[in-house]
Amino acid sequence: MSRNLVEIIRRHHAVGAPTALEVLKDAMQQRGEITDDDRRLAAERSGLPEAAVHGVSTFYDDLLAPRGARHVRVCTGTACFAATGDAHVDALREGLGGLQLGERRQDGAVSLAETVCLGFCHASPAIRDGDIVDAGPGVVERVLAGATRPAAEPPPRSVLPGGPQLLATGRDWQGLRRALAEMTPEQLLAQVTEAEVRGRGGAGFPAGAKWAFARDAPGERKFIVANGDEGDPGSYIDKVLMEAWPNLLIEGMALAGYAVGADHGFVLTRSEYPRSKPALEAAVAQAHRDGHLGADIHASGFGFDVTIVEGAGSYVVGEETALLACLQGLRGTVSARPPFPAQRGLHGLPTVVNNVETLCNVPLVARAGAAAYAALSPGSPTAGSKLVCFNERFARPGVYEVAFGTPVRELCEDVAGGLIDGREIKALQIGGPLGGILPASQLDTPFDFDDLAAVGCMLGHGGIVAFDETTDMRALATHLLHFGAAESCGKCFPCRIGLRRAHEMFASDVLVDRERLEALLETLELGSLCAHGGAMPAPIRSLLAHFPQQLGLA
Ligand SMILES: Cc1cc2nc3c(=O)[nH]c(=O)nc-3n(C[C@H](O)[C@H](O)[C@H](O)COP(=O)(O)O)c2cc1C
Ligand code: SF4
Repeated sequence: MSRNLVEIIRRHHAVGAPTALEVLKDAMQQRGEITDDDRRLAAERSGLPEAAVHGVSTFYDDLLAPRGARHVRVCTGTACFAATGDAHVDALREGLGGLQLGERRQDGAVSLAETVCLGFCHASPAIRDGDIVDAGPGVVERVLAGATRPAAEPPPRSVLPGGPQLLATGRDWQGLRRALAEMTPEQLLAQVTEAEVRGRGGAGFPAGAKWAFARDAPGERKFIVANGDEGDPGSYIDKVLMEAWPNLLIEGMALAGYAVGADHGFVLTRSEYPRSKPALEAAVAQAHRDGHLGADIHASGFGFDVTIVEGAGSYVVGEETALLACLQGLRGTVSARPPFPAQRGLHGLPTVVNNVETLCNVPLVARAGAAAYAALSPGSPTAGSKLVCFNERFARPGVYEVAFGTPVRELCEDVAGGLIDGREIKALQIGGPLGGILPASQLDTPFDFDDLAAVGCMLGHGGIVAFDETTDMRALATHLLHFGAAESCGKCFPCRIGLRRAHEMFASDVLVDRERLEALLETLELGSLCAHGGAMPAPIRSLLAHFPQQLGLA
């Protein structure tokens, strides 16, 4: 993020004053649109220049589409695409009198916007009407009749031979109690390093190494940031953790703070998950009452507190530098690294940014030790267990705790029960839009970082979206590139322009020039600043490799 803007915020932003993003969100909530007066007020209250506030107001989805008295958001994520091929979007638009996505009816009664994704991938398609998310068969009809009902969430289950592990922690704060009573911060850090906890946010970076960088970096204060942005369409693991296991996340953050020397943590939640922020805030308040957060936790002399901040609709804000910009109320664009957040993060100070699930693994390591943690995935080079989630095409969709190294076929057939209505798996997308597409012929690949990477795919965050034999692969390529182009932060031109051009090639009626496409994919891979532009070619490359006849290539 811009160092100048961070400096301006530092000098002019009064403690406790709202950020520009908060003022603008508030204006949108109250009036359904943002005016120049709102921007001036946001600049005045946040201390940012008006031009910077303008940049914020034109970036986030929640600030862009005008809102009517009734605001309907239709999910266009990959799981919803896999369920209906976007037929639910067309049906909803038609039912609302031909309203376009991003449009408000002239009388102001209703508005329609696109959202990616609502995290109800187990029950697609999903539609949000006000603050109610409804999903599943008949959802369009219920929205049109004004009779929505909150979609149910299946409880997460463990299929580990020894029963739930990660999912068994988080109720009694034993990891934090044990660490504060029996370990120095250095010993805790050594235990997390020895346990080889790999980041669950996508890249699999070792948490212990990241914490050590932050611990060693100079800074008058340090922070822990939980990345709860979970923008991968098809993934709802962090949502389940934040909403049903909020204590586990808070405990993991406090442990990270103890090891690193940080006294404050922030969770960035998604506005697409309206239940996450209230669930976490209630858990923080309860943790204070029970003495697990505050000035002197369990009389250890260690103090830690947690603040929950909600984003405003942006996939790319999941990237760590963009996430930190969003937390400070700025436009959520990516910054070049180094410096890494562990050296220069929130407010220019050393900051650990970890995925929600990564932090939820830490209490287990603190209470059970490195050897017990490694034993959860016997035979796999990766320690610990992994949460995976399945989309609505499966007979038993939901979130499951599994062992690394389990063959993908076993996950799909034994755990998730195969596809509904006797359908065949044509392909899977694992780990979100930056991961390749796994064809049915490679289902025996072990579910692990290196094994999936070896076949051009990615474990990523662990969301599994199945496409059945009815999926049109050219439409899938168009869908993925539409998402990629729409969510580019615009900072670097290979991604900003390249993803649009690639999308146009597939969205038109003409045959795609394969040579031109491959050159464009190479430019994206080599020229993009972050993994958004750099890895969006991965699923397209898989489709070229496994389904070339179905893409309409010249
Ligand atoms: C475009 C893009 C989107 C990302 N989205 C997420 C996300 O939603 N959640 C997440 O934890 N990490 C996301 N990441 C990865 C983060 O930048 C960062 O590596 C991660 O939060 C670090 O946590 P970990 O080390 O615990 O995995 C994203 C990265 C990119 C390039
Ligand atoms: S690759 Fe895309 S998302 Fe990443 S910095 Fe460049 S424009 Fe932004």
